[in-house]
Amino acid sequence: MKTFYITTPIYYPSGKFHIGSAYTTCLCDTLKRYKILQGYDSYFLTGNDEHGQKIEEVAKKNNMTPQESVDYYAKLSQDLWKNLKITNDDFIRTTERRHETVVEDIFEKLLANDDVYLGEYTGNYCVSCETYFTKTQLLEGDKCPDCGSDTKLLKEETYFLRLGKYQDRLLKFIEDNPDFIVPETRKNEVVQFIKSGLNDLSVSRTAFSWGVKVKSNPAHVVYVWIDALSNYLTALGYGSKNDALYQKYWVNGDEVIHVVGKDILRFHAIYWPIMLMALNIPIKFRLFAHGWYLMKDSKISKSKGNVIYPEQLTEKFGLDAFRYYIVRELTYGNDGSFSPQDYVARINTDLVNDFGNLVSRTISMVNKYFGGKVSKKAHNHEYKKFEEELENVAQEVFTNYQTNMDEFKVAAALQEVSVLVKRTNKLIDDTFPWELAKDNAKSDVLESVMYHLLESIRLINIMYLPILIDSAPKVFAMLNIESINQNFCSMHFGIKPAYQVVEKPEHLFPRLDQEKEELVIKTMMEQNKAPQVEVEEPEKIEILPEITIDDFAKVDIRVGKVLEGKAHPDAKKLLVFTINTGDKVRTIVSGIAQDYKPEDLVGKNVLVICNLKPVKLRGIISEGMILAGEEKSGKLHVIEAAKEMKPGDKIS
Ligand code: MSP
Repeated sequence: MKTFYITTPIYYPSGKFHIGSAYTTCLCDTLKRYKILQGYDSYFLTGNDEHGQKIEEVAKKNNMTPQESVDYYAKLSQDLWKNLKITNDDFIRTTERRHETVVEDIFEKLLANDDVYLGEYTGNYCVSCETYFTKTQLLEGDKCPDCGSDTKLLKEETYFLRLGKYQDRLLKFIEDNPDFIVPETRKNEVVQFIKSGLNDLSVSRTAFSWGVKVKSNPAHVVYVWIDALSNYLTALGYGSKNDALYQKYWVNGDEVIHVVGKDILRFHAIYWPIMLMALNIPIKFRLFAHGWYLMKDSKISKSKGNVIYPEQLTEKFGLDAFRYYIVRELTYGNDGSFSPQDYVARINTDLVNDFGNLVSRTISMVNKYFGGKVSKKAHNHEYKKFEEELENVAQEVFTNYQTNMDEFKVAAALQEVSVLVKRTNKLIDDTFPWELAKDNAKSDVLESVMYHLLESIRLINIMYLPILIDSAPKVFAMLNIESINQNFCSMHFGIKPAYQVVEKPEHLFPRLDQEKEELVIKTMMEQNKAPQVEVEEPEKIEILPEITIDDFAKVDIRVGKVLEGKAHPDAKKLLVFTINTGDKVRTIVSGIAQDYKPEDLVGKNVLVICNLKPVKLRGIISEGMILAGEEKSGKLHVIEAAKEMKPGDKIS
């Protein structure tokens, strides 16, 4: 039996998983179930990535120890996968000893082979991505180029992994294995990146302690990505006493697929194969990099109020609807967006109207016209053409379905199945069974049509098995289809000689009221919004170049009492004030006419710069300046001193 080993990335337990993380896991689960139907011995791994500074910080925020925090999230994620009926064969946690001991050994092995060496690193570190960046890689304001967070300038003693040494070998490997990274566009990005030159990678940290300690130098913690990537092997028992799974699914395995999001492709396409080369382990895996679920083109984010959790959707609309939507909506390698409107529409169109309706209509007609029992009839009637067309479409669809599934194009595979569903519904429109039923002489023709509908539903349902995991078995039960006719070997029209269907079809997918249910989802998303303090976005304010206190001391600011105010005879924007500043009575011309009338300031204590060089403003000499503040809109506010202050009192 051929083997198939499929993995999700291991997730950071830093919060509740939203539909983005559920997407990867559902996709892998769908592919595993599909491979089983193809006759593979399949093994599916998922888990959590529990070390690193980010996890340490999450724990602090949760007022927990890191171990308590990762334990809490491990339970939460395992419960979620159980609810989504994910059939993972193992769940690896990087804090498990079975994993940690092997990571310790891997690191020592790399050191012993001189693929890892001790050096010093200076660079800007992004805690969120657990990655160092050089100055040229950073965005403005030293922000992380990957996630936009602030980075910290760090200098630390660190171990380096020699990436440069393996650069050419890796390029050659990618060239020799054209399917190593799919889609092609992603592969090209990786090749470009490698060709631009690989710097040795910092693979240890001393700034925090939550991780696997370097055995020979425990002041260092193994870089979280070296730790995390190893999970794909440690879970199979690599480096342990019992490495049977490793031998079976990796060393002697036929297919190994790591499904990863586009954001973490570089780690998997560069660091991981280089680690394996350095460790002398065969590179057996291929990579499928998928796109992201976005929310109206922006990232899923709690604060934006656009988060939706899988369990909210499954509780309200059922598991199959969720599993169907999640793998149907994101097309091969591309980003896609989740929207309440699309969610409801997709379920209504594909599952309620097209498939669910076909099943219930067919069962009802078979009961009405033949008491629930029909058998295969010879083809020699006027609707033969339509039936043959349907048979051909079914074979074609199955071929395309398999090709797409084999290339991880699950959405396209489902689109193919929809073609057959539509074509099957069309057989009803083409043959008018209710008319045929009126004529006793047409009974065989009607029976043949009914038989074709049932056979087509059987084939559709087999293809739906990896996705509609609750409904597909129900359909088989309603049609009384024995297990021998529920697999890929039976994907041929006419294999089953007769049908005996149930009397009353079970409603598979209840019709959804588009507007009402859309609103329900929107409300859920609104309720998920993280409570937050309204903080105004900091503005870009340009601060003038630095001055010293001595520079400031040169400005003589004093309290001045306004004695008189008048309009400037030659300038609309200017007012002319007479102000007592203690040392003398001054004439001061001020550009505040847009917001003040001449008399507004009379009797008030204002602030005056007294040692400003006098200037002539439209014919009048101004002997100082009144201080005023300016709003963003341009509105001016003269700054007043306390009433009890006297003219000439100093401001500093
Ligand atoms: N811990 C690392 C992976 C280590 S694998 C050796 C990590 N974890 S993660 O939790 O941040 O992301 C896990 C996966 O979820 C990534 O493949 C990422 O692309 C995927 N997704 C996170 N948000 C997503 C969407 N909104 N849509 C689709 N996938 C998303 O990276």
